[in-house]
Amino acid sequence: MLFKIKIEDINDIDWNYFWKEGLKEKGNLGVNKNWDKAAEPYEKLNAKDDYTDKLINNLILDKSDSLLDIGAGEGSVSIPLSEKVKNITAVDSSKKMIELFDKRIREKSINNIETIEMDISDINLDSIGHKDIVLASRSINSFPEMEDLLINLNEIANKYVFITFFGPNNWRMEKEFYNFIDKNYTDHPSYVLLLNLLEQIGIYANVINLDVGPVRTYDDIDEAMVNGKWKLDNYSDKEKGQLHEFLSKTLQVDSKTKKLFNPLDKPDWVLIWWKKEDQMEI
Ligand SMILES: C[S@@+](CC[C@H](N)C(=O)[O-])C[C@H]1O[C@@H](n2cnc3c(N)ncnc32)[C@H](O)[C@@H]1O
Repeated sequence: MLFKIKIEDINDIDWNYFWKEGLKEKGNLGVNKNWDKAAEPYEKLNAKDDYTDKLINNLILDKSDSLLDIGAGEGSVSIPLSEKVKNITAVDSSKKMIELFDKRIREKSINNIETIEMDISDINLDSIGHKDIVLASRSINSFPEMEDLLINLNEIANKYVFITFFGPNNWRMEKEFYNFIDKNYTDHPSYVLLLNLLEQIGIYANVINLDVGPVRTYDDIDEAMVNGKWKLDNYSDKEKGQLHEFLSKTLQVDSKTKKLFNPLDKPDWVLIWWKKEDQMEI
């Protein structure tokens, strides 16, 4: 149903409330993914992805900059960035991610990155101090208290804030499958809510679609079931059979590598960024 409200009431919409309601509907409110468990597979999957290059090409950086990387993971973004800025403070709440990150720092003899085990909700000007650049890459998609966080990140930044969020096509393949089995699919709350929220707190942000390339290829359908994005534990035996049928219809053969791939299986990431001075006085 589409709501019609008076135009003067738009400014009274509590966008943070709708963000949290969206997370609740999706089943992600207050659910902390086990990043310790996901750390090693994440590192492997990341290596095949052109996300990092696409992101870095869109950042505005100077060799003299200090940079805060929030939810830095195993350093997939911070490590290549360490050559482009003066120093990096990398924060993550997962012990395992920090361990992997520290190992990579040692192996590569990098000396301008400091890793800190800390939760995003504890990040503010008092705990971190000012940094030229603030970056949150793929790490705050399910963070509930977005208004407080965005205000804190903006306070910390001297120059720019860069954040990436899921784009609307990130789950196109899953949605098609749900459609195929006549099941209702609940979307993740849209980044557009956050653009409205940012405007409400006086920040006019820019949006870029990063157009990340497809990542996953498979030898056969069984591998596509196990190594794809599918959460097989959530599916009944009947649904697993339907998934097999769906994949046999949708997977295509790459003419060069002869591997299977799904053209709908494309990560969709949106970069939202703003310059510190581009803010309205409110
Ligand atoms: C998808 S990974 C992104 C890693 C890296 N920034 C990248 O783009 O490859 C998400 C990271 O955010 C971290 N994270 C998620 N919620 C967090 C929280 N509340 N506090 C600190 N780190 C968090 C996870 O531990 C994980 O390492």
